[in-house]
Amino acid sequence: MTASPSPRRPIVGGNWKMNLGRAEARALILTLRQRLDGLDGVDVVVCPPAPWLTDAFDLLSGSSVHVGAQNTHWEPSGAFTGEVSAPMLSGVAEYVIVGHSERRWAGETGAETNRKLRTALAAGLKPILAVGERLQESRAGRTESVLHLQVNQALRGFTELPPSLVLAYEPVWAIGTGEAADPDVAQQRCAMVRGMLAERFGVLAAATVRIQYGGSVTPTNIAGYAAQPDIDGALVGGASLDPEAFTAICRAVAAEGSR
Ligand code: PGA
Repeated sequence: MTASPSPRRPIVGGNWKMNLGRAEARALILTLRQRLDGLDGVDVVVCPPAPWLTDAFDLLSGSSVHVGAQNTHWEPSGAFTGEVSAPMLSGVAEYVIVGHSERRWAGETGAETNRKLRTALAAGLKPILAVGERLQESRAGRTESVLHLQVNQALRGFTELPPSLVLAYEPVWAIGTGEAADPDVAQQRCAMVRGMLAERFGVLAAATVRIQYGGSVTPTNIAGYAAQPDIDGALVGGASLDPEAFTAICRAVAAEGSR
């Protein structure tokens, strides 16, 4: 008997972090458009630094490649010097990463992640909520409780699972280290997160949520994640700056989805 295909369309995000000048960013966006526009079986989201979002929006308009922001403030407007709000982002981006570990390291609390999610949704953005344990938490056998806390803090007060929400399981020890999680471990953790969502919102709702794996994803290891039943694509950092590598990752995910 063949397994029925997943009802979830995989999604690959490229998180450029604080990299690339404007000319490089524009060149990369155009190359990605050439290579990835119309790719079937996967949603592709490019997340450049905030100043290049307008370029991405303009250069990708009319293509199937989506634009995402890397962060948002939790207030829609106000006296927050240097910050960018969700309603502003919604003019140029469709997705926004919320709760990335590099934001949590910079001091973002679970309560702030919750407020960011709310403001993003209210502005019509599709949030990519990142969760993941640190190395010492993993070693201490606390992965499950950390993920539980992060998921529940981020979704505190939600009575329904927002249909546009995407999750990204990103073990902190795997981000930017070249030490990618074993695909079986990543699968087990993504299934664990899906189980937490099922507990809160019901099995049916949880079954529709896309959960990415993130942490040192490369063209070489992507197939191992894409083949897992609870992993619906990837959030890619370093490799998303290389058009060859990012294209290969998106194509591998699309190919797995169409099998
Ligand atoms: P990495 O980053 O692919 O460079 O490990 C992933 C991320 O931070 O989303």
